Amino acid sequence: MFGKIKKINILDRNRIDYSEIDKELKVELTILGGLDIFTNAHVLGVANNTQKICDAMDLNYNVTKQCMLGAYLHDIGKIKIPSSILQKQGKLTEEEYEIMKMHTIYGYDIVMSYDQFRYLAPIVRQHHENLDGSGYPDGLKDDQIAEEAKLIKIADIWDALTARRQYKVGFPASKAAEILISDIEKGKTGAKYLYFLLMSVIKQIQDRYEGNRDEYLKLQQDVDVLKELDKIYKEIYDRGYTPGLAKKLDRYELSPGYDMTTNTNLLSRNLAKIETLEKVLKEDSDELAILNTQLKKVKSLIKKKEWNVKLFGEEVL
Ligand SMILES: [Fe+2]
Repeated sequence: MFGKIKKINILDRNRIDYSEIDKELKVELTILGGLDIFTNAHVLGVANNTQKICDAMDLNYNVTKQCMLGAYLHDIGKIKIPSSILQKQGKLTEEEYEIMKMHTIYGYDIVMSYDQFRYLAPIVRQHHENLDGSGYPDGLKDDQIAEEAKLIKIADIWDALTARRQYKVGFPASKAAEILISDIEKGKTGAKYLYFLLMSVIKQIQDRYEGNRDEYLKLQQDVDVLKELDKIYKEIYDRGYTPGLAKKLDRYELSPGYDMTTNTNLLSRNLAKIETLEKVLKEDSDELAILNTQLKKVKSLIKKKEWNVKLFGEEVL
């Protein structure tokens, strides 16, 4: 049923120049004048997640660019929400929440007033709609919700759950995935875009894991050498400088005045780094194990009708 997924090989494809997209988007968005959406951490986070989804789906330059423009604009209506509500640390009251929800309609009005952004209006208005009709502002269901809004919604929720901010620590990816999987099972959200986002997130953690593992192995080798040197110098200290020990030292091409304190410092610094890396490697490998199981689960939750859809009028996948 999902034969088409198999052709996606995240390692083997024509890379899109994302910095070029960014440049073009900055030009297009200058039309908004003083609205500096490029400094808003949430907007940047959503744009980044959107890029990850597009990348994992192997979308072309144009569709990717349009999705990212949608990501940059999705919350533009928040400029009309009082900052007392926007920046409130605690839970919003019911009344405040109703005002907050208005950002979708305000945003829709804003993008509709620019001819070149009109096609993004569904994203801006519908990115808080749920498949079961429980979302806002219009309570739309299933196919009534624009496909592009469904994509941005996943990027949006993922940022809200995982991003670290001054006032909060983010959830680990596996916890965010768990929450979204439960939303899928409740029928609120589709599984497809989470599937692609997870693919990208897993690859990122995998890359980090491999980089750290290489560094770990290299440090281990260094430590072996440093320990060996330590032993030789202790022997020299105890027994004097014998030809045998001189030969051993030759292997390391050290100058006669080599400073043992440097050696000892280096050794303890490397051992400390190794200890930290061991912890990080363990965390990442545990996280990867959970995420890979979740990826399989999410794949099994993708409904047939979620495939063969168009994004911005173009067939994708
Ligand atoms: Fe929003």
